[in-house]
Amino acid sequence: MKNQVKIEELIKPFKKEIIVSSDKSLSIRCILLSSIAAGTSKIFNLLESDDVLNALKAIKKIGVNYKKKKYYTEIHGVGINGFNIKKNTVIDAGNSGTLARTILGLCSATKKKIKLIGDRSLSKRDFSRVIKPLNLFGVNIKSKRGKLPLELTGSDLLRPIRYIEDKGSAQIKTCIILSAINTPGITIIKSKKSRTHSEVMLKNLNYPIKIIKNKNYELIEVKGLAQFKSFEYKVPGDISSASFFIVLTLLSKKSRLLIKDVNINPSRTGIIKILNKMNANIKIINKKNYKGEVIGDIKIKSTKNFKSINCPSNLNTAAIDEFLLIFLIAAKSEGISSFKNLEELNKKESPRLDLSIKFLRMIGIKVIRKKNDIKIYGNPELELHGNYRIKNFLKDHRIFMMSTIAALTLNGTWVISDKDSIKTSFPNFLNILKKLGAKIN
Ligand code: S3P
Repeated sequence: MKNQVKIEELIKPFKKEIIVSSDKSLSIRCILLSSIAAGTSKIFNLLESDDVLNALKAIKKIGVNYKKKKYYTEIHGVGINGFNIKKNTVIDAGNSGTLARTILGLCSATKKKIKLIGDRSLSKRDFSRVIKPLNLFGVNIKSKRGKLPLELTGSDLLRPIRYIEDKGSAQIKTCIILSAINTPGITIIKSKKSRTHSEVMLKNLNYPIKIIKNKNYELIEVKGLAQFKSFEYKVPGDISSASFFIVLTLLSKKSRLLIKDVNINPSRTGIIKILNKMNANIKIINKKNYKGEVIGDIKIKSTKNFKSINCPSNLNTAAIDEFLLIFLIAAKSEGISSFKNLEELNKKESPRLDLSIKFLRMIGIKVIRKKNDIKIYGNPELELHGNYRIKNFLKDHRIFMMSTIAALTLNGTWVISDKDSIKTSFPNFLNILKKLGAKIN
């Protein structure tokens, strides 16, 4: 059968150095911000994945040209509110929640109607979270129950807003920041901590944005209509992609891995903090600053004796895309691990909280759930012998990749469907695994 992989063997010990795909969050932000910059931006190392390709197609639809050169992608920015939107414009965000939610903010001042659509998974996700603040700016959005497809009609009479973002969602925060750029006056966002790439990039472009950090919140002030110049950017590796290899190495015997040039912005390194509390051997070396982001190499060694964790929920947002992998380590730990307030996990490309529990129970791990809190009863001796079939997980790329890592480290015979899902974020995933010696059919 096409579009599935079969794994019947553990990966053999390896000692290697790799690089992983470029950061998806930064790639999408580079595209959106360069579309409204004045002049031509050059983006090196842009992630080549479906989500990013859809972002390029989306800016093309609103009148921004780009060109793929040998070493970089050139984006011809049209300036703030400079889009040229034709009648009946339809933007297809595919599988990408980030693109879909942030492009609405980018287009908040466009008076021509834009229809936004997405794939089956994206059409199940919540858009009321961005419709609400956009309505306050004066943007008109038509949708059924806050879902895609939706129609946006922007306004040239936008008003600045004050908004409390309390989900810890960088997608909502970025949507508001982009709309604030289109709006005269000062927009103020009190935002529960989430990844900081949008603010960091804008600060670096000398955009008038102020950030005051508190323990759990950030206060962000954005001055509208301040034109900024085009820029150059070299996108570093994605820690969310690196995480699959971090956990592969931790759970494999006698292995070591060095992952070079990964973005280790502290708002993204929740997985390292959590796993190191569980006794994992993960170190960061060669740290450097790049345009306000932190880049480093991640050094991982196989670990025995994982300990359970009572995971502080203020680490949730910094690890939000990595919980599937963290749960796998909890399954191999001594003791009972507990994780709380995971409601956002069910709002991803698939309901990942529900599906992780289904997955863990399938491999014989006891899980107790109370609403959005779970307890995982670890088993350090966990070794699988049965046949495992991963199918109907809404083509979620991260579930496909996590299952592959489970198969290569826990044993058993696995058939895992929806191989093509990796194209959304990490097309090179299986090739890197094969280079490390994994036998995958
Ligand atoms: C992203 C933010 C996160 C994350 C997603 C990428 C971003 O979503 O899950 O994969 O680039 O801003 P939320 O902000 O909705 O939590």
